[in-house]
Amino acid sequence: MEIIICKTKEEASRKAADLVTALVKSNPKAVLGLATGSTPVEMYKCLIADNKAKKVSFKGVRSWNLDEYWGLPPTHDQSYRYFMDENLFDSIDIVKKNTHVLNGLAKDWKKEVASYEAAIKKAGGIDLQVLGIGSDGHIAFNEPGSSLASRTRIVSLTPQTIKDNARFFKKAADVPRQALSMGVGSIMEAKRIVLLAFGANKADAVKGMVEGGVSQFCTASALQMHQDAWVFCDAAAASKLKLKKYYAWRGDEALKAELAD
Ligand code: GLP
Repeated sequence: MEIIICKTKEEASRKAADLVTALVKSNPKAVLGLATGSTPVEMYKCLIADNKAKKVSFKGVRSWNLDEYWGLPPTHDQSYRYFMDENLFDSIDIVKKNTHVLNGLAKDWKKEVASYEAAIKKAGGIDLQVLGIGSDGHIAFNEPGSSLASRTRIVSLTPQTIKDNARFFKKAADVPRQALSMGVGSIMEAKRIVLLAFGANKADAVKGMVEGGVSQFCTASALQMHQDAWVFCDAAAASKLKLKKYYAWRGDEALKAELAD
């Protein structure tokens, strides 16, 4: 796991976007795994800027998102489909039919998740998966107690996640209690992982992910078992890491080498 520690989330987002842009330039048909939440918004702004500046084109890219609230239609302003259209897809040259978000209104969620996983497999798997992290260390909606081998399925949100995400809704009671989510096992199949974490309220989660034991209590800790995982943090999110100076130095060197290739 490489950990890139920057002073600000803007700087970290720009560096993470550089990895995404480099991949799409080298493989214009790349398969991206995308995330929602406030964290990746700044990185998406960088991708939009790169696309507008014609540094990269997303015309051949296909994408699959991590999760979707169960019961929300794609037209709901808090659905993750709506979020992706607003924050990325409508502002870049990606072909909309090549973007995939789980259907929160599927009649049969088992069929929905099976066809979602099958489509990713048919596309050759995810080349680069973008992730945020919940304050309890979850990735996608893999809450504490999710098997580290879990697949895409329906999940129940913890009271903490409902509280964290209530800021996007009128009131906490409006936050759906369930979601469809890619599993930890599904996410681990991505060839490369780029996880973003910003702010002091993510410091415990980052500490657990990087320096805690591998445990279903902090599902992001599974990334310790991934061979190509990159974590981009601001100083506040990295503040509780014991070896943060070492990670920062090593991470900068690794990123430089990666982008020079
Ligand atoms: C939700 C999403 C996660 C996201 C997390 C953190 O739980 N399912 O993918 O990482 O929120 O959100 P934020 O980036 O707004 O802190």
